[in-house]
Amino acid sequence: MDIKKLRDEALKELLGAKNLEELEKLEIKYLGRKGVLTDVLKQLKEMTAEMRGKIGAAANQLKHELGSTFERRKKEIKAALDNKKEWVDVSAPGHKLIRGHLNPRTLVLRKVEEIFLSLGFSVIDSTEMESDYYNFQALNFPKDHPARDMQDTFYLTDELLMRTQTSPNQVRFMEHHNPPLRVIVPGKVFRRDASDATHESQFYQVEGLMVDKHISIGNFKAVIEEFFKRLFGKEVKMRLRPSYFPFTEPSFEPDISCTFCEGKGCRVCKGTGWLEMAGAGMVHPFVFKSAGYSPYEWQGFAFGFGLDRLVMMKYRINDMRLLNFGDLRFLKQF
Ligand code: DAH
Repeated sequence: MDIKKLRDEALKELLGAKNLEELEKLEIKYLGRKGVLTDVLKQLKEMTAEMRGKIGAAANQLKHELGSTFERRKKEIKAALDNKKEWVDVSAPGHKLIRGHLNPRTLVLRKVEEIFLSLGFSVIDSTEMESDYYNFQALNFPKDHPARDMQDTFYLTDELLMRTQTSPNQVRFMEHHNPPLRVIVPGKVFRRDASDATHESQFYQVEGLMVDKHISIGNFKAVIEEFFKRLFGKEVKMRLRPSYFPFTEPSFEPDISCTFCEGKGCRVCKGTGWLEMAGAGMVHPFVFKSAGYSPYEWQGFAFGFGLDRLVMMKYRINDMRLLNFGDLRFLKQF
C-alpha cells in the first residue's frame, strides 16, 4: 500500500478543485465512510503487526493532513465567492428608482413665488398660531366687529388663535421694515368651516403687500394682470368688483375671465363667465397707523388669494378636498 502515492494524488485533486461542490465530492471520496482512507484503515486488520504499525500511523497522519487541507480550501473558495459578490459592474444599467413628486399645490405655489420674485417681491414665512391682536385688531376688526363673523375662528385662548387669514403679516412685516416694500406671504389658514367641494377647515392663502409713496389701484391692476397672465400662460381679462374688508379702503375683489370657458359661461363660473380670485384693496390708514407708518406719507395695495383656488383653476380640479386626500390616482396626474 503506497500511502505516499495516495497522498500525492489526493492533494493534487484537492488543490485543483474549483468550487465547493467539487471539494465536497473529493472529501467524500477520500474521507467519507466508504472513502479511500477508510478503506485503507479497514485493511489494517489483515496486515502483520509490523505493517499495521507503519501503515496505520502514516494513514492516520494523512487523514489529519487531508482534513485540515480540505478546511483551508473551503475557506479560500468561500472568500473568493464573497469577493465576487461585492464586485460592481459599473457598465450595467442601473435600477430605476421609484420617485415621488410634488403636490399640485406645491407646484402652483412655486410658480406663484417665481412670478412675484421676478416682479421684485420678497417671499415671507410666518407662524400659523396668531394673536387676536394681529389677526383682527391691528387690521381694524375690533372685538365684536361683525366682519369677524365671516371668519369663524379656532380660538386657543382668549388672545391666541389659529390664523384665519394671512393678512396679520401686513402689520407684522411693516413693524419691522421700512417702506417702500413689496412682499408676499404664503401660508396655511384655519376656519371652522364644514368641508365641501370648495371649503376646507384648513386651506392656503397668498397675501401680498406693496407700499410706496404713490401707489394706486392702477399699480395693483398692472401687477395682478401680469401675475395671472404668467400663471395661466395666456391673456386673461380682469375686472374689479367693489367689496368690503375692514383693513382696505376702497376694497375690491378681482375676478378673471373664466379659464374653463373663456368667459362664455359654464358650470365652473356658474354661467357668469367670471371667476372670483381674491380679496384686495388699498391699505387702510388704520393699518398703517397700527404698523407705525404715517398714512399721509405712504400708500399701498394689499391682496389675499386663495392658493387652493388658483390650483383648482390652473389644473381644472373641481373638488378642493382632492388636494388633501393623498390619493395617488389623483396625485400621479401632475
Ligand atoms: N384676508 C382676507 C380674507 O381672508 C382676504 C383679503 C382681502 C386680503 C383684502 C387682503 C386684502 O390683503 O387687501 O378674507
